[in-house]
Amino acid sequence: MKSILITGGAGFIGNHVVRRFVNNYPQYTIVNLDALTYAGNLENLTDIQQAKNYFFEKATILDTKILEQIFEKYRITDVINLAAESHVDRSILSPLDFVYTNVVGTVQLLNTAKKFWQDDISKHLFYQISTDEVYGTLGETGLFTEQTPYQPNSPYSASKASADHFVRAFGETFHLPYIISNCSNNYGPYQFPEKLIPLVIHNMVNQKPVPVYGDGLNTRDWLYVEDHAAAIDLVFHKSKPYKTYNIGGHNEWKNIDIVNLIASIIDQTLNRPVDSSKQLIRFVKDRPGHDRRYAIDASCIQKELGWLPQTQFEIGIHKTINWYLNHEDWVQKIVNGSYQDYYQTQYL
Ligand code: NAD
Ligand code: DAU
Repeated sequence: MKSILITGGAGFIGNHVVRRFVNNYPQYTIVNLDALTYAGNLENLTDIQQAKNYFFEKATILDTKILEQIFEKYRITDVINLAAESHVDRSILSPLDFVYTNVVGTVQLLNTAKKFWQDDISKHLFYQISTDEVYGTLGETGLFTEQTPYQPNSPYSASKASADHFVRAFGETFHLPYIISNCSNNYGPYQFPEKLIPLVIHNMVNQKPVPVYGDGLNTRDWLYVEDHAAAIDLVFHKSKPYKTYNIGGHNEWKNIDIVNLIASIIDQTLNRPVDSSKQLIRFVKDRPGHDRRYAIDASCIQKELGWLPQTQFEIGIHKTINWYLNHEDWVQKIVNGSYQDYYQTQYL
């Protein structure tokens, strides 16, 4: 019987993964380990917190002692590691935080898994959730494949690349079965409002200036978060170990085009005069080391496992904007940091 440790489950992608596993696999034990940093929020999971197969542990992946207690307590059979510092701009301000959590934390988890699984290591799985940013940047053409060499450009992507190398090295050296998937930009409900899409929605709704870095022509490949969670589910259950998969949305957008699209949907939805939200756009100083273009070749996961994104962007972005319009209180609480009060009331 599987007892799966999902780390970072109170974050943006993590809550969708935890919810999916808790609801779809009642026979599994799902342990959500999260340090509840500024990006983690248990309010994201209120709908499943009473489920019989769901357990929450507030802990950091940097703490070996607690990791060992949790592996022992729940007899952990598999790990899906999403815990990370995830924002590129913060990594530019404070690179070491990213080394600690993303690199050292991942190695602490790997060490713990190796220690507890050593007698029957081939029966277990360490699944590392990684990013397309490890590949660096593309020019006008081309796609990242699983064979593209790693060439990270930001402290965030360097830390994720390093973690991936450690995961692979534990596979080679200690025969720890692993899978790594490298995904493109996710969007959807519960994304922390420091990231482009929720930041633009929040600022436009509140008629605040909308910052667009550089010339606004940087390109990202956007995937609806529930499609990523579905891919993780499929990879976890169907992939052979020692494999890497790229996951993407077949959905490239220049930043300025996405910002303009959000502006027109918000004007329409809130009955504002045409083009009024566009007036809020401000071109600001570029992000240092700003990758120009990401685009994923996701043909391998399609061919081998039959995965394709299910959510058309036009539908996903409307759903996302409506979700944020209906959850302005969620955003406000996060922005104010008052979600910590919820945790105190609920668990302490
Ligand atoms: P997020 O910042 O929303 O969530 C990260 C979660 O990890 C938070 O709940 C936080 O509390 C927790 N956490 C941070 N440090 C921790 C620690 N030391 N110990 C335990 N928990 C800790 O991030 P996200 O956008 O949901 O990304 C999740 C994972 O997916 C990350 O590994 C990220 O690199 C990867 N990823 C993200 C995207 C994207 O577009 N957001 C795309 C590809 C890959
Ligand atoms: O590609 C996957 C990655 O996508 C994940 O690994 C990261 O965890 C995730 O944060 C995301 O990284 P990006 O840097 O691409 O996402 P972000 O939302 O920060 O920015 C998207 C684009 O928008 C990028 O080109 C920078 C730009 N941008 C961002 C912000 C926050 C702006 O122009 N203005 C802004 O205020």
